[in-house]
Amino acid sequence: MKHIYLNKIKDLEGPPKKINIFSEREIIMIKELYDSLPERMFNKKQNVRKKTWIQNYNKELDKIYYNKLKDVLGDFKMDNLKSESNEDYYGLFHESFSPLALHVDSGFYEEDIIYKQVVTPLTSNADTVFFKKRWYGRATSFTIDPNELNFKPKPDQNDRSDKHLGEKEFDKKIHDKYLRHIDINNLKGMEVELIYNWKIGESLIIDRSHIHCSSCRIEHKKLGLTTFTKK
Ligand SMILES: [Fe+2]
Repeated sequence: MKHIYLNKIKDLEGPPKKINIFSEREIIMIKELYDSLPERMFNKKQNVRKKTWIQNYNKELDKIYYNKLKDVLGDFKMDNLKSESNEDYYGLFHESFSPLALHVDSGFYEEDIIYKQVVTPLTSNADTVFFKKRWYGRATSFTIDPNELNFKPKPDQNDRSDKHLGEKEFDKKIHDKYLRHIDINNLKGMEVELIYNWKIGESLIIDRSHIHCSSCRIEHKKLGLTTFTKK
């Protein structure tokens, strides 16, 4: 798959932006919402717990969150799956004990105009590493493992690819400090755009086309909220 409205998508792109839009009280409200939501998935192997932000658990917070995103993003649509009653989820909570591998959240439909993802840390002991390289195909996990590359994804699962690779050896110092969970040969030709150190009270807005992963620095567990948007 390749996005049809590629020019529109590229016109909307820009540098990553850190913002402070949520008060301390609002961050606490978001955490309380997380605690009250039902579990969507607990993957023992990957050691991650996922929950979706379901509307109407805390209507006041739904409104605050949507309006604050609208202030910084302008017009947008949510793109985080929908509930059985066809209501948009407002984001995906991601609690993990081990770091996430290299991937891109570039969507599953070629007609979508993918826009920004908003990452809001709810713990401060982690980083997300964004690479300069962008991807305009379907959402994909990047690997050099031949078995993994044969994986046939279901409609809501990431493709697998090694087409992100280039020639140049990846920076050994950065690998050693942040990316030891990823085979350095799976990073050939990649350059870092931004290492985002998670800070509570801050959010990061970044284009959905950036390839990214977590750093290997997780003390105990990390919890974050990501909202994917489209136009
Ligand atoms: Fe992601």
